[in-house]
Amino acid sequence: MKKLILVAGARPNFMKIAPLMHALKNNDKIKPVLVHTGQHYDVKMSGQFFEELNIPAPDINLEVGSASHAVQTARIMESFEKVCIDENPDFVLVVGDVNSTAACTLVASKLGITTIHYEAGLRSRDRTMPEEINRLVTDAISDVFITTSVDADENLLKEGVDAEKIHMLGNLMIDSLAANIEKAQKTPLTFTLLNRNNSISVESSKPLPCEEGLAKGRYGVLTFHRPGNVDNKEALSNLVEIWGKISEKIPLVFPVHPRTYKNIQNFGLQSLINGYPQLYFIEPLGYLQFIHLVSKSMFALTDSGGIQEETTYMNIPCLTVRPNTERPVTIWEGSNKLIKMEDISDEIQLILDGKGKRGTVPRYWDGKTAQRIIELIEKGYN
Ligand code: UD1
Repeated sequence: MKKLILVAGARPNFMKIAPLMHALKNNDKIKPVLVHTGQHYDVKMSGQFFEELNIPAPDINLEVGSASHAVQTARIMESFEKVCIDENPDFVLVVGDVNSTAACTLVASKLGITTIHYEAGLRSRDRTMPEEINRLVTDAISDVFITTSVDADENLLKEGVDAEKIHMLGNLMIDSLAANIEKAQKTPLTFTLLNRNNSISVESSKPLPCEEGLAKGRYGVLTFHRPGNVDNKEALSNLVEIWGKISEKIPLVFPVHPRTYKNIQNFGLQSLINGYPQLYFIEPLGYLQFIHLVSKSMFALTDSGGIQEETTYMNIPCLTVRPNTERPVTIWEGSNKLIKMEDISDEIQLILDGKGKRGTVPRYWDGKTAQRIIELIEKGYN
């Protein structure tokens, strides 16, 4: 029996790891060892996802927590090296592009362990994004490259990766989505509104005042957490004003990432937000409620990576406020559009006029990617 360490660290990793853990449940050829680095640690950013996606409790939790990039990466490397030495796995599988992905790849690769990168080859070509650095580092030293779309294959080939090491097997995040969408839509939407006073505590849990809009699907979903958008006071103030103006036309629901919320407080933007009663800032949602919320919405306005893919699968118009995307297939084929901050208003108006972008679902985004990955590992690397 071969031993496979699977690494999960931050929120977007959990929906990629879940279908693999399920597919490995009764496998008699591969023994999984799940390592959580602890990069995300709040119940709302981590624990809740394990519960809702039925992921078994991690075998090992490195509990590294938050820190600067260098410190966080170093802490993960130091702890993960011990795990690899103790466990002596045949393979390490990392997913996505977070700090945990790059840190564990560096460790495994130097110990001579076969390293498999799922979601290899995505490139934004924007090195101001920490994720782009993580992608480049991870793909420079991985041994097996599992991709979600053909553009990723082309990127890897151009960078000199051997074609036989690249496997386009589809999208694990869509495995989770396909498996959970019906359940998600039956999960009641309850929200915890973030306090509109100048403090980080929350108001008591209560239904959202725009419930009527919610019932009719007349609302948009916001998610913003990229350092480029939210770590800079001017950019974040501009965004808040734009969101506010849009919310005067259509209610906006924003499950706020801790990074964004801290910056709102630090930059003194709470009172600006308070001036817009239909701009609902709520605590981060669990997976099922979030999928429910997006699936019934008119649009998503975001700077996230994963949401570009989830909206493409659900065929919900998605406006991505970034100068580039590492997931261009969501634009060529899907319902995603890259837009500039100054165009947000016009683009939302198009959607309100019924002219939002719709698309098709890319190849192999069919809910069966985990099975294909396990078959690859069983066949090719036994
Ligand atoms: C990380 C990933 C990003 C991913 C995002 C999804 C990197 C470089 N970035 O960004 O690609 O899209 O996760 O959420 O790996 N915090 C909490 N509780 C938590 C986790 C974080 O309060 O459970 C706060 C901490 O103050 C921390 C900050 O959020 O400093 C940022 O967390 P961090 O993991 O450093 O990066 P993210 O912005 O979450």
